[in-house]
Amino acid sequence: MGVVREIVRKLFGESAARKVWDRLEIIGDIAILKSPRLAGMNDPLSINDYKAVAEEIMKVHKNVRSVWLALAPTSGNYRVREKYVHLAGEKRSETIYKEHGCKFKVDITKVFLTPRLSYEHLRVAKLVKEGEEVVNMFAGVGTFSIIIACKSNVRLVHSIDINPYAWKLMVENIKINKVEDKVIPYLGDAAEVIKSKLVNVASRVLMPLPELAIEYLEYALLALREKGFIHVYIHVKALKGEDPLKNAIDIVESKVKELGAKVLTNSARIVRLVGPRLYQVVVDIEVKK
Ligand SMILES: C[S@@+](CC[C@H](N)C(=O)[O-])C[C@H]1O[C@@H](n2cnc3c(N)ncnc32)[C@H](O)[C@@H]1O
Repeated sequence: MGVVREIVRKLFGESAARKVWDRLEIIGDIAILKSPRLAGMNDPLSINDYKAVAEEIMKVHKNVRSVWLALAPTSGNYRVREKYVHLAGEKRSETIYKEHGCKFKVDITKVFLTPRLSYEHLRVAKLVKEGEEVVNMFAGVGTFSIIIACKSNVRLVHSIDINPYAWKLMVENIKINKVEDKVIPYLGDAAEVIKSKLVNVASRVLMPLPELAIEYLEYALLALREKGFIHVYIHVKALKGEDPLKNAIDIVESKVKELGAKVLTNSARIVRLVGPRLYQVVVDIEVKK
C-alpha cells in the first residue's frame, strides 16, 4: 500500500482508502495528489479532507515544501492541467526538478512535465551518435533536448515548443545546464518552425506528443535528411489478444508509406498505460525519403 492510501485509511477509514488514487507524484519539492475524478470516478474526500492528508504527507516526505491536488487531466494544446488546488505548505507552483544529473525549472500549473518519461529521456539520449543533429518537435521545458545534450556527443538539438511558458523555462534550463552551444530553443508551431527553418537538417526527430504525432509526421519527414530516425509517441488501443506494439508499428508504418517514404527498420516499446487497454507506445523507425 502506498503512502496516500495509508494516510487516508488512518484519517478517514478503510472505505475511503480503497477509493482514493494511491499515487503521489513528486516533482522537485512539490507533491501532487490526484483525485479519482481524473479517471471519471467519485472522490470520497473533500478539499478539506485532502488538506489534512497533505499535512501528513509533508511529515512523511520531509523534502516536500508544497502539496497540490490535481482535479483535471492534462488537456489542450499545451498539455497542462486546467485545475489544481493548493493544499499545504508554500503556495508555490515553481520548482527545480532533477533528472539524470540535469536540472529543470518547471511550473506545474503552466507546463507539462512527468517523471514517468524519465526512462525514455535517457533511452533516447543513449541512441544519439556523435555529430548528430536532432529536431525535438514538442520539447516542453527541454527535458529530452537537454538530457541528449548532456549525455551524448550530439552536435545540435533544435528544440521547439508552442507554449510560451514552456519556451521561457526551456531557455532558462538551457542556461542552467550550460548547453547553450548545443540546444537551440524555438517558440512556435513545430510545423511552421520546420517549414521555415529546419528542412532537411536532422539525422533524428523526436515527436513526444501522442495527440499530434501522426498528423505531424509529414513535418518530421520534412526535417529529416535523406535518411534518419524518428521517435513517434502515440496512444494505441489493444483489445484482448492484440499486441499494442504491433498495432502501433502498423499505424506509424502505414502513415510513413502514405507520405511516400520507406521504412528501413522499426521497433517499439510500451512507455506507460494511459487508460483501460490504452497504451502510450514509442515507435522508433529508421526511414529513407
Ligand atoms: C507531452 S509535452 C512534451 C513533454 C516533453 N517532451 C517531456 O519529455 O517532458 C508536449 C509539448 O508539446 C507542445 N506542443 C503542443 N502543440 C505543439 C505544436 N503544434 N508545436 C510545438 N509544440 C507543441 C506543448 O506545449 C507541450 O509542451
